[in-house]
Amino acid sequence: MKVLLGVTGGIACYKSPEIVRRLADHGVEVQVVMTQSACEFIKPLVFQAVTGNPVHLDLLDEDAEAGMGHIELARWADVFLIAPATANTIARMTAGIADDLLSTICLATTAKQVIAPAMNSMMWHHPATSANLETLKSRGVEVLGPDEGSQACGETGVGRMLEPDDIVTAIVEGNNTTVAEPGLLAGVNVLITAGPTREDIDPVRFISNHSSGKMGFALAQAALEAGARVTLVAGPVRLPTPAKADRVDVISARDMHREVMQRAGDADIFISVAAVADYRVTEQADSKIKKSADDMVLTLTRNADILADVAALASRPMCVGFAAETENLETYARGKLQRKKLDMIIANLVGGTATGFNSDQNAVEVFWPEGGQSFSSRSKQSLSVDLISLIASRYQRQNTKDRS
Ligand SMILES: Cc1cc2nc3c(=O)[nH]c(=O)nc-3n(C[C@H](O)[C@H](O)[C@H](O)COP(=O)(O)O)c2cc1C
Repeated sequence: MKVLLGVTGGIACYKSPEIVRRLADHGVEVQVVMTQSACEFIKPLVFQAVTGNPVHLDLLDEDAEAGMGHIELARWADVFLIAPATANTIARMTAGIADDLLSTICLATTAKQVIAPAMNSMMWHHPATSANLETLKSRGVEVLGPDEGSQACGETGVGRMLEPDDIVTAIVEGNNTTVAEPGLLAGVNVLITAGPTREDIDPVRFISNHSSGKMGFALAQAALEAGARVTLVAGPVRLPTPAKADRVDVISARDMHREVMQRAGDADIFISVAAVADYRVTEQADSKIKKSADDMVLTLTRNADILADVAALASRPMCVGFAAETENLETYARGKLQRKKLDMIIANLVGGTATGFNSDQNAVEVFWPEGGQSFSSRSKQSLSVDLISLIASRYQRQNTKDRS
């Protein structure tokens, strides 16, 4: 594989040489193109040393054009990865501006384009940046991250560039990943829940969990690629909506229950990925609870079980549940499969850092009444493609049986 790495002028470009080294570990050939601003942050010589190739800087340079010019570079690449991608470069890509080497290649290449945005969280949340990203995604540009955490500017929030390892995994796996087979779920209505729910204690405090929503969103994306019509009922997460998904945002388990039950009758497949709070605070305070005694007691009330309620409908969709367990995976998962009368359950061990909640990787065991299948650790994106293929094949089998 040949990757053209575009480096733009953000603080995170100190991590870009590490991306080159990690790509090289996977046998990937790398050439680097830098913007003028990027050269203020890091010297081209660094990239020349790690790639062993001259770094491409200028559009209007006779010598450069006589060697590997912008069109040759555009043709050479299998993947054009821009990491970090500044807000400025993202805006210029959106507008189709081509007044330097990097932006001209963006227009001239037919290679897969992937960007790893990195910027201050206010810049990330600016409506101009959000709109630009939506446009780029609708044109097929893949967006990796950004992550949440402390930033070079001293703020904490969304905008950190993903770590080089995560970027490289996505590039290498993305090259191997077959997207979900188009047509596998053509015309099928898929309803998916994702993310955590949030149960208010008072106007400033709540109870929630570590679910990131990444698995549910990745499954929604894979189902769309397979031709399904997807409705995504999402708890409070800051993830971009997969293009063409119908997204319904909710906060609490009760909101999620209501929105799902309103739509379950029209669904052919229901995939319950959300980590729905089992309990809510019985009496939510209208104003902030003041500190008084050393101990504070909260009384909790059981929330309705969304998955079980959908599975109990007279005319029900195929029901796929998720089980996050810290031990005895198969026993607990099969118990839940039977108790809730599900068609399939996807179980993963949580509690470690390598897979499950918040991680970009996941390994799962899938069980259905008469069988099961294991999926070893891989990116949530690649796992979703495999899971959607399995769900589609079980759905088709079930439908054929129902008709015969
Ligand atoms: C110290 C410093 C750090 C910066 N970090 C970022 C950043 O992380 N992300 C970003 O979008 N812009 C950042 N900028 C602003 C960009 O450098 C500026 O928008 C520039 O025009 C980007 O040019 P380019 O996209 O052509 O590389 C930073 C500027 C300075 C002075």
